[in-house]
Amino acid sequence: MNKLLEGKSVVVTGAGRGLGEAFAVHLAQAGASVVVNDVDVALADQVVANIRAHGGRAVASGHSVADAEQAQAIVDLCLAEFGAVDGLVNNAGLNYEALPWEEDPAQVREIVEVNVLGVIYTGMAAAAAMRAGGGGSIVNISSGASLGQRKLGTYAATKGAVASLTYSWALDLEDAGIRVNAVCPLAHTRMVWKSERSLRNCPPDRTPSRIAPLVLFLLGEGSAGITGQLIRCNGPQLHLVGQPFLKAPILERQVWDTESVQRAFDEVFSAHLEPYGLEKRVPPRLRKWTEAPPRSA
Ligand SMILES: NC(=O)c1ccc[n+]([C@@H]2O[C@H](COP(=O)([O-])OP(=O)(O)OC[C@H]3O[C@@H](n4cnc5c(N)ncnc54)[C@H](O)[C@@H]3O)[C@@H](O)[C@H]2O)c1
Repeated sequence: MNKLLEGKSVVVTGAGRGLGEAFAVHLAQAGASVVVNDVDVALADQVVANIRAHGGRAVASGHSVADAEQAQAIVDLCLAEFGAVDGLVNNAGLNYEALPWEEDPAQVREIVEVNVLGVIYTGMAAAAAMRAGGGGSIVNISSGASLGQRKLGTYAATKGAVASLTYSWALDLEDAGIRVNAVCPLAHTRMVWKSERSLRNCPPDRTPSRIAPLVLFLLGEGSAGITGQLIRCNGPQLHLVGQPFLKAPILERQVWDTESVQRAFDEVFSAHLEPYGLEKRVPPRLRKWTEAPPRSA
């Protein structure tokens, strides 16, 4: 196998199972020294043993990404063991389904702490180490759910935050030689087993290892010049995800009062309303134009 990451050191968070495990194993096979992080440290230990049994270099970390000091400790471990941090895969994440009125505040806080703060904390620590070392590559794991999905509002919001962070940090870190991209995966893992809808969209042959080559590519030299991108892979399909933009027509007047806003919507924006969510639902005001009328008897 081509050793694309020979001599490189990479941190993979949430790598005790699922996608993170596949990423860690794949990156180690490509020659990287890997910090295999997971709060479930027994699983991280097993992944490390597997990598070492196949001649790779890896060390386990049981730190939680949701705590700033522990996130720093993950990066420090990589520096202490391998002397540098060249790559970070911000993969650790939680997910659950709930309708807005069913949400439990403690669960909301927990998912935001892991999926948003965890990515920021680990990214902050890694970016500082990469900057000192002359550059690197960060791959954040977002989700197609960031486009909006039923019963996944809070999860979608955390993954949308990861997308926004990716575009922003790509701008901030370019001069430091650090690239920041995000991957929206779909793979048969425990996250999918929990949801009937996800299981329908994700049969068992969509294994996590089918996403790993994309992550390896984004960490390697072959992706030089590619930053600020959101890339989706669901197994067979690989594509870029378009980014939100300021949409024309942009109407101008000195002051917008409620009456002129009403007229702007009635006369102009009604025809430009966006279909919303991953399912591209047409807003009610447009539906009468897009849906076939019921057939008369
Ligand atoms: N499976 C999919 O189809 C899919 C789709 C879109 C996005 N994702 C994203 O991919 C990533 C991996 O998902 P997966 O499907 O492999 O899930 P998974 O549940 O199988 O694995 C996630 C791992 O993260 C670990 N983890 C949780 N909290 C942590 C913390 N605070 N610190 C360190 N580790 C922690 C868990 O112990 C677990 O081993 C997640 O960010 C998820 O949101 C997955």
